[in-house]
Amino acid sequence: MRDELLTAFHRRHASHSFTDCPIAEADLDYVLEAGRLSPSAFGLEPWHFVVCRGPADKSALQAACFGQPQVGEAAAVIVILARASDLAPDQAYTLKLLEREYPGERLAAGLAMYRDFYASVDVTAWSITQCHIAAANMMTAAAVIGLDSCPIGGYLPDAVTAAISADPTRFRPALVLALGYSNEAVPTKQRLDMDTIVTRR
Ligand SMILES: Cc1cc2nc3c(=O)[nH]c(=O)nc-3n(C[C@H](O)[C@H](O)[C@H](O)COP(=O)(O)O)c2cc1C
Repeated sequence: MRDELLTAFHRRHASHSFTDCPIAEADLDYVLEAGRLSPSAFGLEPWHFVVCRGPADKSALQAACFGQPQVGEAAAVIVILARASDLAPDQAYTLKLLEREYPGERLAAGLAMYRDFYASVDVTAWSITQCHIAAANMMTAAAVIGLDSCPIGGYLPDAVTAAISADPTRFRPALVLALGYSNEAVPTKQRLDMDTIVTRR
C-alpha cells in the first residue's frame, strides 16, 4: 500500500493527449467514489460532479477551455462544480448536512458557528478549494486503476457553466477533469527537492 500509493503519484501526470479507448463504467464509478469520499469542511460536500461523455458536450467544453485538445479527446470529462448559493446557512441543502454533522442538541451551536463562519468567508472560493481536494483524490484513484487524467483550470467559467447548462447562481466551476488513456509515455516527475519546500522546526 505504501509503495503502491507512491507509484500511483508518479504515474499520474497531466496528460495532454488521449487515445479513443473508452472508460469502463465501473472505472468511472471508482473515480467518482474517490471524489464522494473526500473530506469537506462542516461535512458540507460542497461539490457536484457532471460527467460528460458525448461529443457535443466535450466539444463545447473544449471551446470553453481555450480549445485545449485533451478536453475533446478525453473519454470522459468530469466538470467539478463548487456549490455557491446552496451553502447559505438557511438553505435546505446546508441545513440537512449540518443536522447530520451536528445531531440532536448539538445543532443549534453548530449552526451558530456556521453562520459566523459564513459571514466571514468568500464562500465560493472556499467551496472551490475543497473541490480541489476531491479532484486530487479522483486523479490519484484514476492512476491506481491505470486511468490517465488532466486537471484543467484554464477555462472561461461562464462558458463552462453554459456548456453543461448548470445554474450559475448555485454552481461555479472548480476544475474540469479530463479522463482517459494517455497517448503519452509517463514522464519523469519534475519537482523541487524537499529542502526547498519543507521547513522542519
Ligand atoms: C488547478 C490546476 C489547473 C491546471 N490547469 C491546466 C490546464 O488548464 N491545462 C493543462 O494542460 N494542464 C493544467 N494543469 C496541469 C499542470 O500543468 C500540471 O499538473 C503540472 O505541470 C505538473 O505536472 P504533472 O501533473 O504532470 O506532474 C493544471 C493543474 C492544476 C493543479
